[in-house]
Amino acid sequence: MPSLMNNLESRNLAYLQSLENPEAFWGEIADQFTWKRKWDKVLDWNFETPSVRWFDGAQLNITENCLDRHLPDRGNDPALIWESNNPQEPSKTYTYRELHEAVCIFAQALRNEGIAKGDRVCIYMGMVPELAIAVLACARIGAIHSVIFGGFSAQSVSDRVNDAQAVAIITCDGAFRGAKDIALKTVIDEALTQCTSVKKVWVYQRTNTTISLLSGRDILWSDAIAAVDINQAIAVPAEIMEAEDPLFILYTSGSTGKPKGVVHTCAGYMVWTHYTFTQAFQYQPGWIHFCTADIGWITGHSYILYGPLSAGATTLMFEGTPTYPSPNRFWEVVEKHRVDILYTAPTAIRSLIGAGDEWVEKHAMPSLKVLGTVGEPINAEAWYWYHEKVGKGRCEIVDTWWQTETGGVLITNLAGATPSKPTYATLPLPGVEPLLVDEQGHEIFGNNVSGNLCIRRPWPGILRTTWGDHERCKQTYFSTYPGLYFTGDGALRDENGFYRITGRVDDVLNVSGHRIGTAEVENAINLYPGVVESAIVGYPHDIKGQGIYAYVIYQGDTTDRESLAKGINEVVSKTIGAIAKADKIQVVSGLPKTRSGKIMRRILRKIAEGELASLGDTTTLLDPAVVDEIIAGRR
Ligand code: WTA
Repeated sequence: MPSLMNNLESRNLAYLQSLENPEAFWGEIADQFTWKRKWDKVLDWNFETPSVRWFDGAQLNITENCLDRHLPDRGNDPALIWESNNPQEPSKTYTYRELHEAVCIFAQALRNEGIAKGDRVCIYMGMVPELAIAVLACARIGAIHSVIFGGFSAQSVSDRVNDAQAVAIITCDGAFRGAKDIALKTVIDEALTQCTSVKKVWVYQRTNTTISLLSGRDILWSDAIAAVDINQAIAVPAEIMEAEDPLFILYTSGSTGKPKGVVHTCAGYMVWTHYTFTQAFQYQPGWIHFCTADIGWITGHSYILYGPLSAGATTLMFEGTPTYPSPNRFWEVVEKHRVDILYTAPTAIRSLIGAGDEWVEKHAMPSLKVLGTVGEPINAEAWYWYHEKVGKGRCEIVDTWWQTETGGVLITNLAGATPSKPTYATLPLPGVEPLLVDEQGHEIFGNNVSGNLCIRRPWPGILRTTWGDHERCKQTYFSTYPGLYFTGDGALRDENGFYRITGRVDDVLNVSGHRIGTAEVENAINLYPGVVESAIVGYPHDIKGQGIYAYVIYQGDTTDRESLAKGINEVVSKTIGAIAKADKIQVVSGLPKTRSGKIMRRILRKIAEGELASLGDTTTLLDPAVVDEIIAGRR
């Protein structure tokens, strides 16, 4: 496997090589995977169309790289360790051989119902091993998986299922998460009343709650696999995939109301997740890797499943939450399974800081070597706490910046090999050429500068399109600054050329590490009877990073603000999911608008942040008086 860049010099050398001759660089790395056929050309690209093709002409199946190729040497090594939400319930371990077998069996169950290459399959499950098995089984037969986070509402599920025109769903009766027991199948039943494309639903029983099964459509997971002949299933070869065949769709929020289906393809994504996993964490064979994300998000796809498994690592999958039943649950899991790498989000760190140091201080966690953070900017307090209290001052911290669209990490320090700097993601990985631009798209040169973060050329893991709407992909990522991929993030570059990501500069919020489009939330709030218009902005929140502040024009009785807020949030939960609920709701009689009718979000943001001294010029507004009224009614 690719040798590790284990100091700054070797990183700098690899970086130069990757930019000078990308085809030679990535060709050499790709040579180390299992291919059914090698590529004709390493890279072909054009950001105008946009069109990006890596390893064109090659054929492969990613699951052979994640499973089969490890069988001769590591067949009996643990591939996946699963830890329950309930500390009393025994954990489960799948060796590479067992995981391979389970994937082959469920792949056959899918085939038995006629699911084939190119079909879209939505997966809506809790964090059980069967979720990993379902994802890999889809990849095995070439079905395009689209995992939907278990917190999304029926409406969100049906929007995604319809957009993907999925033919099947894999779900659970319910999911355990902390003290909660979430009825997933009920949500699916409701969602499917609005979806005509779905012909089959598999149901894995986790919570054993009562569910209804629609005859002819719904199948129990246990029945489906009982009907499969194991030996026969293992003998079926994995589907041959072209390098640029879609591997999965993952929906993510953007500036408009409708989530986009980000499409990743087989070969480039495989190479990128593998490369970034091994390099960023400086992975050593035998290490146990614990990524606390949910597989419903990109972090779970890339760093619970594909990255670690392609590297032959042991990946730990945790069903629960950091604070249930008490705020030492992560530390217990780390000690119980002797975790080497812990990869989590600043939100989790901040909530654990809030629980008090006594919890983490009781756990020595001697196995820990590398700590990773992802999903949102990490504040200095959280960084130092992570380093001192969790890592006991002896573990490396990697601050990994990336996005659903980038497939894997783009900017990070390499654990122990390149310098870290609190709150900085630091340097780009080989193949990644970041630049900062101003609003007009002019490049900002030099150091100690800030601007909008763009990337100049494709890396293997870049998104290829947005499902069913290539134009949208072009408009969203490649048109703001022609010739560049625009990340939607702002960043600064320090005197050493290290990058610090400062947060989104578009209409996307990052609440507890979850991306939420302001337009999506506004559309949901506007469904509440009596709401005429609304505007959403983010404001600094101690634990969530950003909280949601909603300004609402409401025609109706406003005497009971509490129940109005509750009613509005119920609609948001039902339309999107509880993660998008507003933290503060303020009823206003008008919104600050320009004469052309555009809402001045900058002003609303400042008010929500409490930065009243720096509102700027409000005299050009249609109705300047509305600003004073909003300030007076601030929540
Ligand atoms: C933010 C998650 C600062 C950023 C992998 C990005 C970060 C968005 C970091 C993508 C980091 C992610 N430092 N900000 N280390 N990592 N972000 O698509 O705003 O869920 O654009 O992917 O999270 O969120 P997404």
